[in-house]
Amino acid sequence: MLRHLPPITDPAVLVGTDTADDAGVYRLTSDLALVQTVDVFTPVVDDPYWFGAIAAANALSDVYAMGATPRLALNIAGFPRKALPLDVLGEILRGGAEKCGEAGVTVIGGHTLDDPEPKYGLAVTGFVHPDRVITNATARQGDRLVLTKPLGLGVITTGIKQEQTSPAAAQEAIRVMATLNRAAAQAMIETGVSAATDITGFGLLGHLYEMTRAAGVRARVRLRDVPILEDAWDLVRRGAIPGGTQRNQAALEGVVTWEGIDEDAQVLLCDAQTSGGLLIAVPEGRLERLFRALRAGGVPVVADVGEITGPGRGEIAVAG
Ligand code: CO
Ligand code: CO
Ligand code: CO
Repeated sequence: MLRHLPPITDPAVLVGTDTADDAGVYRLTSDLALVQTVDVFTPVVDDPYWFGAIAAANALSDVYAMGATPRLALNIAGFPRKALPLDVLGEILRGGAEKCGEAGVTVIGGHTLDDPEPKYGLAVTGFVHPDRVITNATARQGDRLVLTKPLGLGVITTGIKQEQTSPAAAQEAIRVMATLNRAAAQAMIETGVSAATDITGFGLLGHLYEMTRAAGVRARVRLRDVPILEDAWDLVRRGAIPGGTQRNQAALEGVVTWEGIDEDAQVLLCDAQTSGGLLIAVPEGRLERLFRALRAGGVPVVADVGEITGPGRGEIAVAG
């Protein structure tokens, strides 16, 4: 879609639309750059407060993925004023504001429009030193791939809409989605890593492909090391598969080689996530340091899921 935009010529734009990165980066001075991103979506859970909190954690995540610190945010909401009590919108905004507060981010305004289906998200502004931007496009051969949240969030939230997800599984997914990627980002900044992105709508393999394609490399993923929420397996078998996940799987045909991976696992590796974890490419010699920093920061899931195996055009091999 972005190819319909005119090419960016402003030299202060350090990261623009050409590498499918998480946020735009604009140099203000030799030691300060702005990081900007926007994300809006329809409810993924029934509770409006938690929908707001998850939407905020998700929007902030693109700033964390760039190695930047989020500071300011603007609310963007669509709401059916005639069909739902305004208190519901209030709860969504409260969830978003409290999550921003936890992140040290000030909500300085916003805009709501009448919309038949509720929508919420935020435009977020962060800051970073121009030399310390972490992009998704600089993974190198030999890098290990580290993931910081489990997969299966798309399947579980689709299961909520289909009334197939147990309350306990929904609770666990809400906890995972509402967790900020701040501690994970802090650990990768401390360690010094090659590249990073966050796992959202394109799923683990879709976002890994953005990374491998942009860097001109290929990767290998080991299914057995990928953390996946327990309840997601059963929900996949019951057909709780988001449309986005199916599109991801189709889009990766010809890119991914499945080495004896069954259909259910293929779906989960392509599952469209909301507010997923960071995917970090780190030189092998710094892997242990990154693990220690992530654990010290209290990041509960720290998984070494694969590696960058050599030059290529983004190809991904998935082994059992
Ligand atoms: Co992103
Ligand atoms: Co985004
Ligand atoms: Co306005």
